[in-house]
Amino acid sequence: MADKQTSSIHGEWSSRWAFILAATGSAVGLGNIWKFPYITGENGGGAFVLVYLVCIAVIGIPIMMAEVMLGRRGRSTPINTMKRLAMEAGQSKLWSFLGWSGMIAGFLILSYYSVIAGWSLAYIFKSASGEFTGSSAETISTLFGDFLAQPFEISLWHSVFMLITMVVVARGVRHGLEKAVRFLMPALFVLLLIMVGYAMNSGAFSDGLRFLFSPDFSKITGPGILVAMGHAFFTLSLGMGAIMIYGSYLPQNTSIAQTTFWIAGADTVVALLAGMAIFPIVFANGLEPGSGPGLIFVTLPIAFGQMPGGLFFGTLFFILLLFAAWSSAISLIEPAVTWLVENRNMQRFKACVYAGLATWLLGMGTVLSFNQWAEIKIFGKTFFDNLDFLTSNIMLPLGGLCIAIFAGWLLPRLMSADELAMKSDSQYELWRFLVRYITPIGVAIVFLKAVGFI
Ligand code: PFF
Repeated sequence: MADKQTSSIHGEWSSRWAFILAATGSAVGLGNIWKFPYITGENGGGAFVLVYLVCIAVIGIPIMMAEVMLGRRGRSTPINTMKRLAMEAGQSKLWSFLGWSGMIAGFLILSYYSVIAGWSLAYIFKSASGEFTGSSAETISTLFGDFLAQPFEISLWHSVFMLITMVVVARGVRHGLEKAVRFLMPALFVLLLIMVGYAMNSGAFSDGLRFLFSPDFSKITGPGILVAMGHAFFTLSLGMGAIMIYGSYLPQNTSIAQTTFWIAGADTVVALLAGMAIFPIVFANGLEPGSGPGLIFVTLPIAFGQMPGGLFFGTLFFILLLFAAWSSAISLIEPAVTWLVENRNMQRFKACVYAGLATWLLGMGTVLSFNQWAEIKIFGKTFFDNLDFLTSNIMLPLGGLCIAIFAGWLLPRLMSADELAMKSDSQYELWRFLVRYITPIGVAIVFLKAVGFI
């Protein structure tokens, strides 16, 4: 066995907490607050939430542990990590394709992620200028519709978001990433609690809870299950190397299992809180839960418009949402940037300019898919929907499947046991059982069900 490398050339987190915060920063983002509620609404509520939670527990957590483990063992970009570990394990160097597909998935996701983050950016100013104060649900829906109809304004916000993301990425691990997330995650959490408190008094809290938590299995379809599983990957930032690269900066003596539970737990709680804040408002105002990607941009402003101190809370909320998106965006592009630095010998700054410009350009497709190109559909979906479907529901689960197979079947047991250093043998055996059998079979069943095969 080759000597194992104990630190990455790109730096290392200052502590275990720094890793937890950064990985939570990557996991908690638009996926939890923007996407989880709207796809839950589109897929009928409770049963969808249940499938999502099961996927987090039996697929997401074991894969996250595998990704962190591979990252820390390889100490490099996902492409080079996979190449190195495959060679150590006596496997083909072609496993580096996992790093490639992850890098491409991150780039594709960021292109639309940035557009939605741009909406949050715009909504900071809309909220601060009092546009929501006292407005009716109808006015606020129209406001969002009008906002989406103008490609110029949305592309401007998308550009600003890409710029601020690339500035943090350009500054590197220690200086950029760590500092950006330290205070913002706890603040977002507190604000969500305040929103749930407001929702409790909205008059429809129990309707909201029932929608979220009482499963009606007649409402869930094969494709719905695929969306739930895809979202488990998306929300935990799995299947594309983001967590792997963060793992490569993880100090050697940190428990991977414990840190993973922390991250997955925090991520799930934030999503559920967002749902508990949003659905009561949806029902109290007679809105449609399945109204799509605009859901939080309509429901929350209605709440802010009505509640005391709404101008302040609304503005603060969109600021925090922006930060949550920002810390996720950083991890989406980090694999591409480090790869350019390692394999193309680029300066980090130059790598950021190239990666950032390409992502920005592709993001224009998403900008237009909400207006000028709204009617152009391939497979019945807009450009944005296709991009989201391809990445969340196909690329990430496939990436996760390969990670599970590599970590469970191909990596020598000695290596994974050594790197995971679990408290007891039975814990290690459980993890190994999950990545060898449950995860691959689970992903395969969901794919087959989605295409109507079973
Ligand atoms: N997990 C992020 C969210 O829920 O918003 C999105 C994301 C970040 C997905 C990083 C994938 C990734 F690698």
